[in-house]
Amino acid sequence: MQNAKPVFVDIEPRTYNVNQFEIEDKISERTKAIIPVHLYGQPCKMKEIMDIAEERNLTVIEDAAQAHGAEYDGKKIGSIGNISVFSFYYMNVWVIITG
Ligand SMILES: Cc1ncc(COP(=O)(O)O)c(C=O)c1O
Repeated sequence: MQNAKPVFVDIEPRTYNVNQFEIEDKISERTKAIIPVHLYGQPCKMKEIMDIAEERNLTVIEDAAQAHGAEYDGKKIGSIGNISVFSFYYMNVWVIITG
């Protein structure tokens, strides 16, 4: 991932998470991974994201820094993508406690 260039995708206004319907338009032959960020304990639409990734042979890296303990479709956030990252920064943990 060294020298990777981020390509931003617009958000879904209710949750501020990535809009799963806008991801495919941003994928090119250079795309290697999708990084859904689960904001404020709210999971991204992982089924749709994993389907897109599987179809295009892309890696999914879940940013679960703000979603410790959150669940999507009966699965813990951080256990769905190929790689997941968490944070122990106190403000992120505070977001989870307060919802
Ligand atoms: C969504 C999200 N991802 C990643 C990070 C980075 O976490 P850390 O500073 O623990 O590396 C943060 C920190 O606030 C975050 O809110």
